[in-house]
Amino acid sequence: MLRRLRKNKHIINLVSNVNLNVQNFIYPLFIVDGKNRKEEIPSMKGIFRFSIDKVMKEIEECLNLGITNFLLFGVEERKDELGTWAYRNDGIIPTAIKTIKEKFYEAVLFADVCLCQYTASGQCGVVVNDYVDNSKTLELLNKISIVYAQAGVDFVCPSSMMDFQVKSIREALDKNGYENVGIMSYSTKFNSAFYGPFRIAADSAPKIGDRSSYQLDYKNPNLAILETLKDVEEGADIVMVKPALAYLDIISKIKERILIPLAAYNVSGEYTIIVNSQMDTEKLMLEVLLAIKRAGADIIISYFAKDFAKIQKIL
Ligand code: PBG
Repeated sequence: MLRRLRKNKHIINLVSNVNLNVQNFIYPLFIVDGKNRKEEIPSMKGIFRFSIDKVMKEIEECLNLGITNFLLFGVEERKDELGTWAYRNDGIIPTAIKTIKEKFYEAVLFADVCLCQYTASGQCGVVVNDYVDNSKTLELLNKISIVYAQAGVDFVCPSSMMDFQVKSIREALDKNGYENVGIMSYSTKFNSAFYGPFRIAADSAPKIGDRSSYQLDYKNPNLAILETLKDVEEGADIVMVKPALAYLDIISKIKERILIPLAAYNVSGEYTIIVNSQMDTEKLMLEVLLAIKRAGADIIISYFAKDFAKIQKIL
């Protein structure tokens, strides 16, 4: 007689033991150079690129909805071989961090640390003889992290899947006096077609080749789990599985093996499939976000954060 526990909505809710809460969400923000820009991203209905002056209002709106955590991505047109604009003090992201923190000190800022939006190749690192060089890339990831830390970021988020990126950044931060800056690493990041809309949004698609020499292949779950265990060992504060929906098995296996917080990135392709579907988008959103939580994610990074926050009040 298990149906007694489903007799009405209140009983159903009473016995529910996995729930979504806006405080566990991180909202991604795309930031562009210039002023007075708020442009809808063609590949991602409802998501915008903001210039720094315009992102302030967006953040204020989010804070009023209870969203306190943001993941910043710079969309940079000035690209070169070594991704110079990623680690300049006056680059888009350091300037955004400073400006946001001045006005909204309580906002928790995460910043993506990668080179693909900044390199002419569109690769996540420095290309030497057609191969993304691990140690040369680590040097640049360290530089980016220090510049973001200097600007006042709370967490740097290495997403280029280089070996030892967490260890290298942790050492660089500590050596420069930024022991309080955390690392949320994209520790288990698959080579996925679900990033398609993001690459248009961030202008970061590889110009030649793909990312298969550093992002994970989905046919080997053991290696995928090992990548996160390594990052925990190297000193990550928060680890991540990305994408989320096709990898719920990986989320739940990792959750059984680690004690530090686990994030899942509900990526651009997962967002657009739902937004563009002919189904009830609100119900779909709740069903998939809950599935990510149920699989074991403590934190959900999602373009749905605002939509969820708006309806959470009436759930
Ligand atoms: C940068 C990066 C990517 C995403 C986040 N950081 C793209 C990629 O690896 O190509 C994807 C996020 C999304 O699809 O929403 N390396």
